[in-house]
Amino acid sequence: MLEASGLTYIAYILAALLFILALAGLSKQETAKFGCYSGMVGMVIALLATFSKISAGAIGITIVAMLIGAAVGLYVARKVAMTQMPELIACLHSFVGLAAVLVGYNTYIELGVMPEDMIAEMQLNGELGIHLVEIFLGVFIGAVTFTGSIIAYGKLNGTYKLAIFKSAPLMIPFCHWVNLAAIVVSFLLMLVFVGGGAEASAFPLVLMTIIALAFGVNLVVAIGGADMPVVISMLNSYSGWAAVASGFMLDNDLLIVTGALVGSSGAILSYIMCEAMNRSFISVIAGGFGNAPTNTEEKDYGEYRELKCNEVAELLKNSSSVIIAPGYGMAVAQAQNAVATLTEKLQARGITVRFAIHPVAGRLPGHMNVLLAEAKVPYDIVLEMDEINDDFENTDVVLVIGANDTVNPAAAEDPTSPIAGMPVLEVWKAKNVVVFKRSMNPGYAGVQNPLFYKENSAMCFGDAKKTVEEIVADI
Ligand code: TAP
Repeated sequence: MLEASGLTYIAYILAALLFILALAGLSKQETAKFGCYSGMVGMVIALLATFSKISAGAIGITIVAMLIGAAVGLYVARKVAMTQMPELIACLHSFVGLAAVLVGYNTYIELGVMPEDMIAEMQLNGELGIHLVEIFLGVFIGAVTFTGSIIAYGKLNGTYKLAIFKSAPLMIPFCHWVNLAAIVVSFLLMLVFVGGGAEASAFPLVLMTIIALAFGVNLVVAIGGADMPVVISMLNSYSGWAAVASGFMLDNDLLIVTGALVGSSGAILSYIMCEAMNRSFISVIAGGFGNAPTNTEEKDYGEYRELKCNEVAELLKNSSSVIIAPGYGMAVAQAQNAVATLTEKLQARGITVRFAIHPVAGRLPGHMNVLLAEAKVPYDIVLEMDEINDDFENTDVVLVIGANDTVNPAAAEDPTSPIAGMPVLEVWKAKNVVVFKRSMNPGYAGVQNPLFYKENSAMCFGDAKKTVEEIVADI
């Protein structure tokens, strides 16, 4: 018969495998549901296995905490709008960071009340030093993740007036030197802390925590606008490494494996996003280090044209190919069903309709794909930027539905633009472009969009759901 600890290990391996299946499943729309279920089953197994390792009293306390957490989680999950998901994710990352800080301090306090002979043994076999490094690094990563995620939450929310929560980057003087100093001082403090051995003082730990909290703020406030998607996946990665550190401190192998999965997948996602947006990975993770100065002055691009819904309907009826470029505004307006109906109407008239999806359209990876799948738009007409960017010049009409930064020609044409170099959907190459939005306001990056003033462009003002519905009625 297997011992209880053997069974726990088998359960941990099973849970880890299910988490890997969850990640693999979530990478494609068709298998995403399977991915979610794998993750849930894995988590139940992980919880049961963890319960088998702790006392009945601790299980009771854990269940009470879980019930409270589950109630809050269910309430928030039901209430949160799709457009608020990135903020919610940032908020959850901050909890992982805070948990790592608390686990770190708890482990430090536990060391202080450990029997002397145990401490002496740990000191003898070198375990004590390793344990102190784990505590220090766990608290450091946790504290950076905690405050960095809070700033990201504010920046994504966009309603707070404080400068640190504005989407534009906020660079304090010598900010990169300040970051470097924070890392060097923290490293020196770690040497002092670990050097203290059994007598390790709380002072270097507390001082480092304060520095790491400030470091987290400085790292994220300096990144702005269009680079925010990378920040979110980067904080996702940090939260994974914070969980790894907690796993080492709590001596929990599954937490280490799970944290490493989150940490590495977040790092890979950050890298893919940087590639997609033509940004330097190192520059973004180092708080915008090495970015060239940009010009944010307002330019006069001339007059813009406006089309009413019935005029857009006429234009569409006389076209043979249409590409729809959706963006964040489609999510805000919840216009995906109206857009799907418009697609069907146009297809029924023999017009070719396809969708062009920018990798960072909306506010979270795959945001547009999820909305279009929800509205039952067939996957085969939903194309990624690389697949469709060359086709715009042979297209009669492009409908830009609530997208702005992702279709901004300044990225390709103006080297001084804050979004210079970011690949965008080259919608302006089509014969006609109609932009659906409510005003002439800029997009998330706060950059003016010369597309609106091009000769072949026209604005169709109003809430995207209402305007698209009106066009459907006209057609
Ligand atoms: P944005 O540049 O954010 O522009 C969205 C546009 O939608 C706005 O100009 C807004 O104009 C319009 N809009 C808002 N509500 C609307 C409504 N009800 N009806 C019609 N229009 C509406 O969109 P994008 O092109 O999708 O670009 C995404 C931006 O977010 C990028 O800068 C990206 O880097 C950033 N970002 C992305 C992510 C991820 S992972 N996707 C995460 C964080 C940040 P009006 O106000 O005039 O209507």
